[in-house]
Amino acid sequence: MPGPRIDEIGPWSEVKLEILKRYAVEYSKILASQESPSFWHVYIDAFAGAGVHLSRTSGQMVPGSPLNALLVQPPFREYHLVDLDGDKARGLRELVGDRTDVLIHHGDCNRVLLEEVFPRVKFEDRKRGLCILDPYGLHLDWRVIQTAGSMGSLEVFINFPIYDININVLHHDPETVSASHIARMNAYWGDNSWKEVAYDKTPTLFGDIDEKVSNQRFAEAFRSRLKTVAGFSRVPEPLPMRNSKGATVYYLFFASQKGTAERIVTYIFDNFGRGTTS
Ligand SMILES: C[S@@+](CC[C@H](N)C(=O)[O-])C[C@H]1O[C@@H](n2cnc3c(N)ncnc32)[C@H](O)[C@@H]1O
Repeated sequence: MPGPRIDEIGPWSEVKLEILKRYAVEYSKILASQESPSFWHVYIDAFAGAGVHLSRTSGQMVPGSPLNALLVQPPFREYHLVDLDGDKARGLRELVGDRTDVLIHHGDCNRVLLEEVFPRVKFEDRKRGLCILDPYGLHLDWRVIQTAGSMGSLEVFINFPIYDININVLHHDPETVSASHIARMNAYWGDNSWKEVAYDKTPTLFGDIDEKVSNQRFAEAFRSRLKTVAGFSRVPEPLPMRNSKGATVYYLFFASQKGTAERIVTYIFDNFGRGTTS
Protein backbone atom coordinates (compact mmCIF):
# COMPACT_ATOMS: atom_id res chain seq x y z
CA MET A 1 0.00 0.00 0.00
CA PRO A 2 1.48 3.44 -0.91
CA GLY A 3 2.37 5.73 1.99
CA PRO A 4 0.59 9.03 2.69
CA ARG A 5 1.10 12.02 0.38
CA ILE A 6 3.91 14.09 1.90
CA ASP A 7 2.99 17.79 2.08
CA GLU A 8 5.53 20.36 0.99
CA ILE A 9 5.79 23.19 3.51
CA GLY A 10 6.94 26.79 3.21
CA PRO A 11 9.35 28.57 5.58
CA TRP A 12 6.51 29.97 7.67
CA SER A 13 5.38 26.42 8.50
CA GLU A 14 8.87 25.57 9.65
CA VAL A 15 8.76 28.60 11.95
CA LYS A 16 5.41 27.38 13.31
CA LEU A 17 6.87 23.90 13.93
CA GLU A 18 9.76 25.42 15.86
CA ILE A 19 7.40 27.55 17.98
CA LEU A 20 5.15 24.60 18.80
CA LYS A 21 8.15 22.45 19.65
CA ARG A 22 9.69 25.06 21.95
CA TYR A 23 6.46 25.61 23.83
CA ALA A 24 5.70 21.88 24.10
CA VAL A 25 9.09 21.36 25.76
CA GLU A 26 8.47 24.14 28.31
CA TYR A 27 4.90 22.99 28.95
CA SER A 28 5.89 19.36 29.54
CA LYS A 29 8.81 20.36 31.74
CA ILE A 30 6.57 22.50 33.97
CA LEU A 31 3.69 20.03 34.18
CA ALA A 32 5.91 16.98 34.76
CA SER A 33 7.74 18.72 37.61
CA GLN A 34 4.62 19.56 39.64
CA GLU A 35 4.03 17.62 42.82
CA SER A 36 1.22 17.80 45.36
CA PRO A 37 -0.82 18.04 43.34
CA SER A 38 0.74 16.30 40.38
CA PHE A 39 -0.85 16.42 36.96
CA TRP A 40 -1.44 14.03 34.08
CA HIS A 41 -0.55 16.12 31.02
CA VAL A 42 -1.80 15.31 27.55
CA TYR A 43 -0.74 16.40 24.06
CA ILE A 44 -3.51 16.74 21.46
CA ASP A 45 -2.80 17.37 17.76
CA ALA A 46 -6.18 17.79 16.08
CA PHE A 47 -5.06 18.30 12.46
CA ALA A 48 -1.97 16.17 12.89
CA GLY A 49 -0.87 15.57 9.29
CA ALA A 50 1.35 12.68 8.22
CA GLY A 51 4.07 13.33 10.82
CA VAL A 52 6.70 14.39 8.28
CA HIS A 53 6.83 17.10 5.61
CA LEU A 54 9.08 18.09 2.75
CA SER A 55 10.78 21.43 3.34
CA ARG A 56 10.47 23.72 0.30
CA THR A 57 13.56 25.59 1.53
CA SER A 58 15.98 22.71 2.02
CA GLY A 59 14.36 19.90 -0.01
CA GLN A 60 14.80 17.72 3.11
CA MET A 61 12.19 15.83 5.12
CA VAL A 62 11.31 17.61 8.37
CA PRO A 63 9.35 16.24 11.34
CA GLY A 64 5.78 17.52 11.66
CA SER A 65 4.17 18.76 14.87
CA PRO A 66 3.12 15.30 16.18
CA LEU A 67 6.57 13.79 15.69
CA ASN A 68 8.22 16.75 17.44
CA ALA A 69 5.84 16.32 20.35
CA LEU A 70 6.56 12.59 20.61
CA LEU A 71 10.24 13.44 21.09
CA VAL A 72 9.66 15.98 23.88
CA GLN A 73 11.53 15.25 27.13
CA PRO A 74 10.16 14.76 29.68
CA PRO A 75 7.36 13.16 27.64
CA PHE A 76 3.68 13.96 27.90
CA ARG A 77 1.75 11.25 29.72
CA GLU A 78 -0.65 10.67 26.83
CA TYR A 79 -0.85 11.73 23.16
CA HIS A 80 -3.87 12.06 20.85
CA LEU A 81 -3.19 12.53 17.16
CA VAL A 82 -6.15 13.08 14.84
CA ASP A 83 -6.37 13.26 11.05
CA LEU A 84 -9.27 13.00 8.64
CA ASP A 85 -7.10 11.54 5.91
CA GLY A 86 -6.89 7.74 6.21
CA ASP A 87 -3.45 7.53 4.59
CA LYS A 88 -2.05 10.13 6.97
CA ALA A 89 -3.55 8.41 10.01
CA ARG A 90 -2.03 5.12 8.79
CA GLY A 91 1.33 6.85 8.24
CA LEU A 92 1.18 8.19 11.80
CA ARG A 93 0.48 4.70 13.13
CA GLU A 94 3.58 3.42 11.39
CA LEU A 95 5.72 6.24 12.79
CA VAL A 96 4.42 5.72 16.31
CA GLY A 97 4.99 1.96 16.30
CA ASP A 98 4.01 0.18 19.50
CA ARG A 99 4.03 3.15 21.89
CA THR A 100 1.09 2.58 24.19
CA ASP A 101 0.94 6.22 25.31
CA VAL A 102 -0.14 7.36 21.82
CA LEU A 103 -3.66 7.13 20.42
CA ILE A 104 -4.20 7.76 16.71
CA HIS A 105 -7.71 8.81 15.72
CA HIS A 106 -8.80 8.65 12.11
CA GLY A 107 -11.75 11.03 11.75
CA ASP A 108 -13.07 14.58 11.86
CA CYS A 109 -11.38 16.22 14.83
CA ASN A 110 -14.40 18.46 15.40
CA ARG A 111 -16.26 15.35 16.50
CA VAL A 112 -13.35 13.29 17.85
CA LEU A 113 -12.14 16.03 20.23
CA LEU A 114 -15.56 16.79 21.67
CA GLU A 115 -16.68 13.16 22.05
CA GLU A 116 -13.52 11.16 22.69
CA VAL A 117 -10.54 13.31 23.66
CA PHE A 118 -11.62 16.35 25.70
CA PRO A 119 -13.68 14.22 28.13
CA ARG A 120 -10.36 12.55 29.10
CA VAL A 121 -8.76 15.87 30.12
CA LYS A 122 -11.03 17.08 32.91
CA PHE A 123 -9.76 19.82 35.21
CA GLU A 124 -11.16 18.11 38.31
CA ASP A 125 -9.25 14.90 37.47
CA ARG A 126 -5.99 16.92 37.56
CA LYS A 127 -5.59 16.41 33.83
CA ARG A 128 -4.08 19.20 31.74
CA GLY A 129 -3.63 19.42 27.98
CA LEU A 130 -1.85 21.26 25.20
CA CYS A 131 -4.00 21.18 22.08
CA ILE A 132 -2.83 22.16 18.57
CA LEU A 133 -5.59 23.28 16.19
CA ASP A 134 -3.78 23.68 12.88
CA PRO A 135 -6.11 23.33 9.89
CA TYR A 136 -5.18 24.35 6.33
CA GLY A 137 -8.23 26.58 6.14
CA LEU A 138 -11.66 27.13 7.65
CA HIS A 139 -12.11 23.55 8.84
CA LEU A 140 -12.33 24.10 12.57
CA ASP A 141 -15.64 24.28 14.42
CA TRP A 142 -15.97 27.03 17.03
CA ARG A 143 -17.56 24.52 19.47
CA VAL A 144 -14.12 22.95 19.86
CA ILE A 145 -12.60 26.31 20.84
CA GLN A 146 -15.54 27.20 23.08
CA THR A 147 -15.36 23.85 24.87
CA ALA A 148 -11.60 24.11 25.31
CA GLY A 149 -12.06 27.58 26.81
CA SER A 150 -14.74 26.44 29.23
CA MET A 151 -12.86 23.37 30.48
CA GLY A 152 -10.08 25.31 32.22
CA SER A 153 -7.66 22.41 31.68
CA LEU A 154 -6.60 23.17 28.11
CA GLU A 155 -4.20 25.52 26.38
CA VAL A 156 -4.52 25.87 22.62
CA PHE A 157 -2.58 27.04 19.61
CA ILE A 158 -4.98 28.03 16.84
CA ASN A 159 -4.30 28.64 13.17
CA PHE A 160 -6.58 31.51 12.10
CA PRO A 161 -6.59 31.06 8.31
CA ILE A 162 -6.73 34.65 7.08
CA TYR A 163 -5.66 33.66 3.54
CA ASP A 164 -8.60 31.29 3.09
CA ILE A 165 -10.85 33.91 4.68
CA ASN A 166 -9.68 36.71 2.38
CA ILE A 167 -9.85 34.62 -0.79
CA ASN A 168 -13.21 32.99 -0.13
CA VAL A 169 -15.16 35.07 2.36
CA LEU A 170 -14.13 38.70 2.73
CA HIS A 171 -14.78 39.79 -0.85
CA HIS A 172 -14.98 43.49 -1.59
CA ASP A 173 -18.56 42.83 -2.63
CA PRO A 174 -20.09 40.63 0.12
CA GLU A 175 -22.92 39.71 -2.29
CA THR A 176 -20.49 37.56 -4.31
CA VAL A 177 -19.64 35.16 -1.45
CA SER A 178 -21.06 31.65 -1.82
CA ALA A 179 -23.39 30.18 0.81
CA SER A 180 -20.96 27.33 1.48
CA HIS A 181 -18.08 29.69 2.30
CA ILE A 182 -20.36 31.74 4.57
CA ALA A 183 -21.33 28.50 6.34
CA ARG A 184 -17.64 27.58 6.83
CA MET A 185 -16.92 31.05 8.22
CA ASN A 186 -19.92 30.90 10.57
CA ALA A 187 -18.79 27.49 11.83
CA TYR A 188 -15.26 28.69 12.52
CA TRP A 189 -16.33 32.00 14.10
CA GLY A 190 -19.21 30.46 16.04
CA ASP A 191 -21.93 32.70 14.58
CA ASN A 192 -22.33 35.30 11.85
CA SER A 193 -21.14 38.28 13.92
CA TRP A 194 -17.92 38.37 11.84
CA LYS A 195 -19.99 40.25 9.25
CA GLU A 196 -20.30 43.18 11.65
CA VAL A 197 -16.54 43.49 12.15
CA ALA A 198 -15.37 42.63 8.63
CA TYR A 199 -16.47 45.81 6.87
CA ASP A 200 -16.51 49.55 7.54
CA LYS A 201 -19.18 51.69 5.93
CA THR A 202 -17.45 54.39 3.86
CA PRO A 203 -19.57 57.30 2.61
CA THR A 204 -19.18 58.20 -1.10
CA LEU A 205 -20.99 60.51 -3.51
CA PHE A 206 -23.09 57.50 -4.52
CA GLY A 207 -23.92 56.36 -0.99
CA ASP A 208 -22.17 54.15 1.56
CA ILE A 209 -19.89 51.39 0.36
CA ASP A 210 -18.52 48.45 2.37
CA GLU A 211 -14.76 48.63 2.89
CA LYS A 212 -12.97 45.53 4.17
CA VAL A 213 -11.12 46.11 7.46
CA SER A 214 -7.41 45.26 7.74
CA ASN A 215 -6.27 41.70 8.51
CA GLN A 216 -5.02 43.00 11.82
CA ARG A 217 -8.41 44.38 12.85
CA PHE A 218 -10.18 41.20 11.83
CA ALA A 219 -7.69 39.07 13.77
CA GLU A 220 -8.06 41.39 16.77
CA ALA A 221 -11.83 40.82 16.72
CA PHE A 222 -11.20 37.07 16.80
CA ARG A 223 -8.79 37.53 19.70
CA SER A 224 -11.46 39.41 21.57
CA ARG A 225 -13.87 36.49 20.98
CA LEU A 226 -11.36 34.02 22.39
CA LYS A 227 -11.46 36.03 25.60
CA THR A 228 -15.03 37.20 25.95
CA VAL A 229 -16.92 34.31 24.32
CA ALA A 230 -14.65 31.26 24.71
CA GLY A 231 -13.48 32.41 28.15
CA PHE A 232 -9.69 32.18 27.78
CA SER A 233 -8.23 34.76 30.16
CA ARG A 234 -4.81 34.90 28.49
CA VAL A 235 -4.61 35.48 24.75
CA PRO A 236 -1.42 37.23 23.64
CA GLU A 237 -1.31 39.09 20.33
CA PRO A 238 -1.10 36.46 17.58
CA LEU A 239 1.93 35.96 15.37
CA PRO A 240 1.29 36.76 11.69
CA MET A 241 2.81 33.94 9.63
CA ARG A 242 3.97 35.43 6.34
CA ASN A 243 4.96 33.93 3.00
CA SER A 244 8.08 34.98 1.06
CA LYS A 245 6.14 37.88 -0.49
CA GLY A 246 5.30 39.25 2.97
CA ALA A 247 1.58 38.34 2.78
CA THR A 248 0.04 36.95 5.96
CA VAL A 249 -1.03 33.34 5.35
CA TYR A 250 -2.49 32.83 8.81
CA TYR A 251 -2.27 34.13 12.35
CA LEU A 252 -0.94 31.81 15.01
CA PHE A 253 -2.99 32.35 18.18
CA PHE A 254 -2.35 31.01 21.64
CA ALA A 255 -5.02 30.90 24.32
CA SER A 256 -4.70 29.82 27.94
CA GLN A 257 -5.84 30.53 31.48
CA LYS A 258 -2.33 30.97 32.84
CA GLY A 259 -0.16 34.07 33.06
CA THR A 260 3.03 31.98 32.97
CA ALA A 261 1.92 30.32 29.74
CA GLU A 262 1.16 33.69 28.18
CA ARG A 263 4.57 35.03 29.19
CA ILE A 264 6.43 32.03 27.74
CA VAL A 265 4.54 32.16 24.45
CA THR A 266 4.98 35.94 24.16
CA TYR A 267 8.72 35.43 24.66
CA ILE A 268 8.80 32.74 21.94
CA PHE A 269 6.66 34.83 19.55
CA ASP A 270 8.95 37.84 20.11
CA ASN A 271 11.96 35.65 19.37
CA PHE A 272 10.45 34.85 16.02
CA GLY A 273 10.37 38.50 15.06
CA ARG A 274 6.81 39.48 15.79
CA GLY A 275 6.68 42.48 13.52
CA THR A 276 3.86 44.81 12.71
CA THR A 277 0.80 42.81 11.72
CA SER A 278 -0.62 43.32 8.25
C1 LIG B 1 -1.83 22.01 8.16
S1 LIG B 1 -1.92 20.25 8.10
C2 LIG B 1 -1.32 19.86 9.70
C3 LIG B 1 0.14 20.00 9.86
C4 LIG B 1 0.67 19.61 11.22
N1 LIG B 1 -0.03 20.34 12.31
C5 LIG B 1 2.14 19.95 11.31
O1 LIG B 1 2.47 21.10 11.60
O2 LIG B 1 2.95 19.04 11.11
C6 LIG B 1 -3.64 19.95 8.24
C7 LIG B 1 -4.06 18.48 8.33
O3 LIG B 1 -5.43 18.47 8.75
C8 LIG B 1 -6.08 17.34 8.18
N2 LIG B 1 -7.52 17.63 8.28
C9 LIG B 1 -8.30 18.41 7.49
N3 LIG B 1 -9.56 18.48 7.99
C10 LIG B 1 -9.57 17.73 9.12
C11 LIG B 1 -10.56 17.45 10.11
N4 LIG B 1 -11.80 17.92 10.00
N5 LIG B 1 -10.21 16.66 11.15
C12 LIG B 1 -8.95 16.16 11.27
N6 LIG B 1 -7.97 16.42 10.37
C13 LIG B 1 -8.27 17.18 9.32
C14 LIG B 1 -5.49 17.24 6.80
O4 LIG B 1 -5.58 15.91 6.31
C15 LIG B 1 -4.02 17.67 7.05
O5 LIG B 1 -3.22 16.53 7.27
